[in-house]
Amino acid sequence: MADFFYQTTPIYYVNDRPHLGTAYTTVVADAFARWHRIIGDETFLLTGTDEHGLKIARAAEERGKSPIAWADEASAWFVDAWSALEITNDDFIRTTQERHRRSVQQFMQAIYDNGYIYKGEWAGWYCVSCETYYSEEELEGDRLCPTHQRPVEWIVEENYFFALSQFTDRLLEWYEANPEVVLPESRRNEALGFIRQGLRDISVTRTSFDWGIRVPWDEEHVVYVWYDALINYATVAGYGSDAELFARMWPGVHHLVGKDILRFHAVWWPAMCMAAGILPPQQIVAHGWLLVGGEKMSKTRANQIEPVALAEEVGVEALRYHLLRDVTLGNDGDFTFEGLIGRYNADLANNLGNLLSRVSTVVSSKCGGIGPAPRDASATAMATISGEVIAEVRRAWQRAAPQEALEATWRLVRETNAALEIAEPWRHDPGPEVDAVLGDALEVLRIVAILAAPAMPETAAEIFSRIGLEGRPDAPGRGALAGGELAWGGYPGGCSVIRGEPLFPRRKAQG
Ligand code: MSP
Repeated sequence: MADFFYQTTPIYYVNDRPHLGTAYTTVVADAFARWHRIIGDETFLLTGTDEHGLKIARAAEERGKSPIAWADEASAWFVDAWSALEITNDDFIRTTQERHRRSVQQFMQAIYDNGYIYKGEWAGWYCVSCETYYSEEELEGDRLCPTHQRPVEWIVEENYFFALSQFTDRLLEWYEANPEVVLPESRRNEALGFIRQGLRDISVTRTSFDWGIRVPWDEEHVVYVWYDALINYATVAGYGSDAELFARMWPGVHHLVGKDILRFHAVWWPAMCMAAGILPPQQIVAHGWLLVGGEKMSKTRANQIEPVALAEEVGVEALRYHLLRDVTLGNDGDFTFEGLIGRYNADLANNLGNLLSRVSTVVSSKCGGIGPAPRDASATAMATISGEVIAEVRRAWQRAAPQEALEATWRLVRETNAALEIAEPWRHDPGPEVDAVLGDALEVLRIVAILAAPAMPETAAEIFSRIGLEGRPDAPGRGALAGGELAWGGYPGGCSVIRGEPLFPRRKAQG
């Protein structure tokens, strides 16, 4: 067992600005990492940029820049966007870094030395946008790439091949032995389907251009960009440079990827690890696409939504919440501005915002602004509901289902609002009855702040401080199973509760 929960995002191509699709992946990975920190796992979140290959060389050329000058510029867009979206990555890898060159060369050499790379000739239809070859049958229309609907190019090269076909049985055994290695199940079945169809060896070096990492035993060749890119996950874990770190981080790696790159992560990459003599990754979670008007967002279709501008308009945490709450992880989701505002008004303004504001108002008018303690777990139905919700949230994150975790959390918010409407503490004279109801509601707010923190960390922190609690709800280990605070009864009572501005003022939908 590795010591770390090591979460990764794909590394993004620097031919394109960050858009809502890439932001979606990154926010989900960030939420996974944040949840694991909360439950006390030693967590490491990695993201970065994929900077080699023909596509990037051409993007630079079109702009009259050297590939590295272009990559420096474009990689910074991602660093800035992820910081604006509150992404807590512990490292940011660029495949042009020296640490990565060393690691790729060692990884390749290990596979070569183990006898799984051989020299051959390759000719095929190549899509530069995908940086991948397609067989004649996979092409659409007039020899168009099935993903980009763009003409493919016929490329003939002498290069080195990875003997992927030799890994069919080992991959099938690995899937068999690890039922949750790919989540959700629909994506696992898809990956198994690729393997069962039969695997062909893949060409893993190029000689037609040189924007890449040199093959260590043959300087004429550069490493194929996908092979180069996948190894980034090992580079950062200390592969070939820090054996001690590697032993702690590997194979506890959890990849989050879009369905478009499932095959690379769930078939090629585990086989590459096996071939290099390291263990394959612990888990691959694959999500669907975020669509706009039913189509995938992409540069080619020019239908991208700029995530930082959107976050500035609606609030970064509202955007994060919507992405996590309204896309069922694994399926495609359709993004609309109206959907975002609808969710904001329903869950954030009306439910959560309303709960906090009515509780703080009544604590101020009936309890002199001092929050009372909750009832004993045995004396309140809210404790039972909280217990169920906490268990459900734990299971949901475990199954890589953020939408279920948030849905359960908001069930608790709604039930608490409903309980307040029945008890109507604002109509009664101060006294033990009013204190009990408000103490329970404050305790729910404490629990909800911890459960909502992976999606909305700063909102959660604000709730903590308004109800008079010290520290952050997402302090590492606060939600640990043993000795953590995700159980009824943690709100101590006697805290100063602040009546503040509404957390989420209602918004009108507009285009
Ligand atoms: N560079 C490769 C990945 C190498 S990982 C070793 C790559 N990059 S990419 O920039 O084209 O896209 C990476 C990821 O961005 C996709 O797998 C997916 O996770 C995400 N998305 C890109 N467009 C998206 C949507 N429209 N919707 C959801 N995710 C999207 O592939």
